[in-house]
Order: sequence, then C-alpha cells, then structure tokens
Amino acid sequence: MAIVRVGFIELWVQDLERSLDFYHGLLGLRVEHREGKSAYLRGYEELEWSLKLTQAPLAAVRSLGFKVDSEEGLEALEAWARREGLPHRLEGDWGRPRVLRVQDPFGYPLAFYFQAEKLPRVLQRYHEHRGPGILRIDHLNLFSPEVGEATRLYQEALGFRLTEYTEDDEGRLWASWLHRKGNVHDVAFTNGEGPRLHHFAYWLPDPLAVLRAADILAGAMRTDQIERGPGRHGISNAMFLYLKDPDGHRMELYTSDYLTVDPDLPPVRWSLNDPRRQTLWGHRTPKSWFLEGSPLLDLEGRPVPTRASRLEGLPQHVI
Ligand SMILES: [Fe+2]
Repeated sequence: MAIVRVGFIELWVQDLERSLDFYHGLLGLRVEHREGKSAYLRGYEELEWSLKLTQAPLAAVRSLGFKVDSEEGLEALEAWARREGLPHRLEGDWGRPRVLRVQDPFGYPLAFYFQAEKLPRVLQRYHEHRGPGILRIDHLNLFSPEVGEATRLYQEALGFRLTEYTEDDEGRLWASWLHRKGNVHDVAFTNGEGPRLHHFAYWLPDPLAVLRAADILAGAMRTDQIERGPGRHGISNAMFLYLKDPDGHRMELYTSDYLTVDPDLPPVRWSLNDPRRQTLWGHRTPKSWFLEGSPLLDLEGRPVPTRASRLEGLPQHVI
C-alpha cells in the first residue's frame, strides 16, 4: 500500500501567538514558516513540517496527514476516493504542491502527499535544540463510535496492520492500534463519541526527555496543562506524557515503544478491564482523558457532526 507513515496534523487554534508560545516557546518545536494566519513547525529529526497551526474562530482539526510512497501512490488513493464516492480534492500547501484531501467514510479529514520540500537537517545541531528535544510526529489517536468498522476499513482499504487491541468480555473491539511505519502505530481508534481527535503524539529521544517536558511545564507554572503522566503505557510499552494545548487539543509526548516490521507479528490482546493496559504501573487515568477530544472539520471547513458510541460505559478502573 502507498501510505508510508503519519506525516502531519493541521490544527485550528483561536490565538496563534498563544499556541506558538506553547509549541515553540515551551516545547521547542521549530517554526519554519509563517504565512497568512498559519505557522508551520517541525521536530528536530524531521526534514518536512509536521504541525500546521492556523488561527481560526474555533479550535478544531483541519487535516490528518499521511506521507505516501510516490505520485503513483497518491493517484491510487485518488482512485479509491473516486470509486467510493468520497469527498476529495487536490490542493497545494507550503512546500507541498500536491496534497490529496479526502473525507473518509467515517468523517475523518485525511490528507495524503508525496512531494515535500526538504528542510535543512538539524538533528545533530544539538546546541539549537530547545525544550525536551521533540524529534518527530509519531501517531494520531481518533475517537470513533464504530471502532470495529474503522479498524477493518483502515486494514483492508489503506493497508494498516494491527499491533494491539482492547476487547471486552463479549469480544467487542474497544480500541485498536494500527501501523504502517514499523512501530506500534501511526493511527489508533478508541471508543467514544466521534469522529473526533483524541490526541496526536510526538516522539522524544528517551524517557528522561519525558520527565524534562514535565519539569518545563511545572517550571513555567503550567501544570494545569499536564493531564496525565508521566508514565509507562501497558499498550505499546511506551513512556508518555499527555498535555492540553491552550485550545484544549491533546498532545502526547511519547517514546520507547517497539519494532513491528515482521509481517506475521501477532497482535497483542488487552482486556478492557485490565488497568495495566493504560498505565503499566497501575496509576488511574483521569475521566477527562476518556471523554474530551477535538472536533474535526470537513473539506469546506465545517464541523463534522459526531455520534455517540454504541458501546456504553467506561472501564471499571476509571476515576
Ligand atoms: Fe498515543
């Protein structure tokens, strides 16, 4: 399949300077370009931008971006969108002349691209690294009222591979982790009112950088923006810290999961009521983490209507 990895996210924010103070000033993401009401940022390992912030009247998610392997791959995805009757169109963006925007059957605003202008390599310009040293975008986590159907479509139509999943005692799928790039996930679906964004995640160099991020937020008297962690997930085995940006968009800082390139890798099953799946060390997860998310926008910039989940209730260990 054509998709290589998650590539970027575009967020609508209500005060661009306040958002840049958070993402650039505190967390150290590099601002590479500003144009109109938008700013383009990247981590220290990336050669392409991965976060676009656009000032807008409401806080929402404009695009969920995926890098594909070629222009032919982009054409194959366009043919898929046409065949399925999905809203789609080609657009240009800064450094990316051909971005295929598609609203998938569940309402997620996907954006696919191959061509991208390469930015200077700054990975080893360590004296310029700021904040916890964020390296690259890692994954998107999406609320879905129909996790089973979404998981199946992303596997069958888009070529994602399942690494881990959560199931209840009746065998119903509550969450799934799907990858293209060879670690635990590029995209995950989690049960809840949707379609919405649950969070987007960036990769840090090591677990100490996760602690460094928490210290930076605390030092800046911004502990109200730390929602959960630091900790180690059961699912994915990664170290994590969840932050809320000034608009309430949830960002995860993430590192140290594992390799998943074997084509016959068996997926890991977790019971919904096993508290170790969320935090391996058994810490409770705040209720806000299960309920709050960011609205999505359609191709015309209108909020995508959401539906409640058919699966009722929260796991027993939720406070
Ligand atoms: Fe995550």
